Amino acid sequence: MNNENFEKEIKFPDGFLWGTSTSAYQIEGGITNDWSEWEKSEGRSKKLEKKGKNPKDYICGKACDSYNRYKEDLDLAVSLNSNSIRIGIEWARIQPKKDVWDVEAINHYRDVLQEAKKRNLKTVVTLWHWTNPVWLAREGGWTKKSAVEHYLKYVDLIIENLGGNIDFWVTLNEPMLFANYSYFLGYFPPNKHSFFKFKKATNNLIKAHIKAYEKIHNFFPNANVSITNLSNYFEPARKWFAPEQLFKKIVAYYGINKFFNKINNYIDFIGVDYYRRINLSLIPPFIKRDKDNITDMGWEIFPEGLFYVLKELSKYKKPIYILENGLADESDKKRMQFIKDHLYYVHKAISEGIDVRGYFYWSLLDNFEWDKGWSPKFGLFAVDRDTFERKKRPSADFYAEICRSNSIK
Ligand code: BGC
Repeated sequence: MNNENFEKEIKFPDGFLWGTSTSAYQIEGGITNDWSEWEKSEGRSKKLEKKGKNPKDYICGKACDSYNRYKEDLDLAVSLNSNSIRIGIEWARIQPKKDVWDVEAINHYRDVLQEAKKRNLKTVVTLWHWTNPVWLAREGGWTKKSAVEHYLKYVDLIIENLGGNIDFWVTLNEPMLFANYSYFLGYFPPNKHSFFKFKKATNNLIKAHIKAYEKIHNFFPNANVSITNLSNYFEPARKWFAPEQLFKKIVAYYGINKFFNKINNYIDFIGVDYYRRINLSLIPPFIKRDKDNITDMGWEIFPEGLFYVLKELSKYKKPIYILENGLADESDKKRMQFIKDHLYYVHKAISEGIDVRGYFYWSLLDNFEWDKGWSPKFGLFAVDRDTFERKKRPSADFYAEICRSNSIK
């Protein structure tokens, strides 16, 4: 990024939402769901041991203990001068068994949302972030039509009990990634490799969103409802190679457009999660490894890609909120520049007329990074794995100044 870009102060529009993002399973702790069962399974442990890894580092367990420390976490969000927060609700807590609705869990989330409101934080609430109650997974999960009905009952309950304190509804987090990783590439539970199952799950998730959208709007006509989509920037590894260009087009269609095309009449905004550029190759493992300018996870830092993605998504003609953008960077040496450069391109998009209305850094805390376990550190605040003490990283102050001034200097 050229420093010339920052010669002048960059101002964001009034009312711009500044926040951080989290998800229930990755921070709360003490949850039993299909992921917690999978993490403990013999097959999973053996696979990790074979790779020379310690399975303990891949168990979510008590996570960041945020189920108990949510007030402290909300205070951290306030200390960042942010005016919003994205939090998640864990379906498996609310409905631990098919015929059991857990009143304590519902009351807990009511309190979380009220505490957020007390702190003047706008609430962006994710109803489903990949994890499922164990009973649902045993019934065949999202490959079965029944999942849609079950999900809608859960949505009804949220609407009636918690809806009044929800400003932005995210019915589903990155459904395409979930369908792909769980049913086609098999990285996530239930580790299937079936295009047929992938398609079934995708279709059921589309139906679930559309019906949830209608239900939420019946109850709250002015609600803001959408999904988030993982919208990374794809390029062919060899730009001159036509088959790779075609491969890129197919992947980008499934990755970025497919879901939005289907639900376009049932969204009030576009939720973007952007992390990296992905150079697609027809040579296995199909993604060209990046060597320079990478995060601790080896992901290429490519701020310009966010601009291209915003441009592409602007065709849906809806307000856009960036609901995740961040990096794994334990040393915190790259985080400030990362945030600054990405925001430069967000601002560029706004100045070209693209209706971007908010930016949420992923994540508030170092959290459980799914199949990658505990090693990636995405947080503006580090979390001690034994005491759960939160420790501010220097980049948190940098972000707090941006949120306070609504600008980058
Ligand atoms: C997911 C998060 C995850 C982040 C970093 C996003 O796609 O929604 O849950 O932690 O990526 O990998």
